[in-house]
Amino acid sequence: ETKYLIVDKNVDSHDAYAQAVDFLNKGEVVAFPTETVYGLGAVATDEVAVQKIFAAKERPSDNPLIVHIAHKEQVRDYVQHIPEVAQKCMDAFWPGPLTLILQEKPNFFAENVTAGLSTVGLRVPDHPVALRLLAAINKPLAAPSANRSGKPSPTKAQHVAEDMTNRISCILDGGATGVGLESTVLDVTVTPPVILRPGGVTKEMLEAVIGSVIQPTDKEQENPNTPKAPGMKYTHYAPEAPVLLIEPETENVQQAIAQLQAAGHRVALLASESFAESEANYFFTYGKDDNVDEMSSALYDALRACDKTDATIILATTTTRVGVGVAIMNRLEKAAGGQWYK
Ligand code: TXA
Ligand code: MG
Repeated sequence: ETKYLIVDKNVDSHDAYAQAVDFLNKGEVVAFPTETVYGLGAVATDEVAVQKIFAAKERPSDNPLIVHIAHKEQVRDYVQHIPEVAQKCMDAFWPGPLTLILQEKPNFFAENVTAGLSTVGLRVPDHPVALRLLAAINKPLAAPSANRSGKPSPTKAQHVAEDMTNRISCILDGGATGVGLESTVLDVTVTPPVILRPGGVTKEMLEAVIGSVIQPTDKEQENPNTPKAPGMKYTHYAPEAPVLLIEPETENVQQAIAQLQAAGHRVALLASESFAESEANYFFTYGKDDNVDEMSSALYDALRACDKTDATIILATTTTRVGVGVAIMNRLEKAAGGQWYK
């Protein structure tokens, strides 16, 4: 049984946090919102508790978890040393959607948190519920995204409930998350630092603070010699029906819908509001035209909404690979398995 507790600002949630802390201290798993996506949390020094995360997600054990902490001052307790670029990033972007990969202090975190690596990913989330939970438990929490492996990450507590009911002890419902895409993962153990996963903190934002940063293209990511986050090799973010990418040109999109329908498909279209009147069987919007922030915030909810329909194919319109668009396109390419409408 999974306890579902609402912790929005309109209710007195003191008791909910006390229950969540109790579960965590007993070695159980609790889902909570962050500013990016919902996380599936367990005490990061408790190997048995962390194992429950892997089981609930059906996650491969070679894929390490991000450790969430309440304050940047705590980092020195967990890592061997703090490179200058790391300190600058913490000062500029924490709390926020940036995970820093650092050399861990040996034998501090549970072995399965880091999947046997000598590095650990750390971040301070920028969400009142996550921060209050971290402050209340006063321990670092390992927390991957709270979806089942392969599914789009959860941006609402309802998504977590769909994937995790009866698999974990507790869900803290703090409403919809903001950014909507997982944090940027930056490896600062190498010089220059490498973006292992693009996210809300963009290459441009990082370079303004620490100078040159390497961002492998999605193509370069496929090269076995490119450094990457272990998790990036797996299928991700995929709804049940196949996804095809298409550029957001009105005539092209209308034609694609007509052709797919003529071939017997029921089409779900994911696009900005200006496509609302299309002939698609289902339509889920990313928000206003050319607004990448709304698009990143709405993307996973839209992908999950397709699973609630009987659509046999999903047409997802794309955006330009600039700023947050890099992260959006990274996730869209993965959701589509690299397939474009032709
Ligand atoms: O926004 C986020 O980052 C969310 C919220 C809950 O904080 N968490 C999240 O966790 O997306 P997860 O486990 O779904 O993705 C973590 C990514 C994976 O691709 C993993 O391989 C990588 O970070 N990662 C974690 N530790 C690493 C390490 N030591 N070295 C390289 N990559 C690492
Ligand atoms: Mg994930």
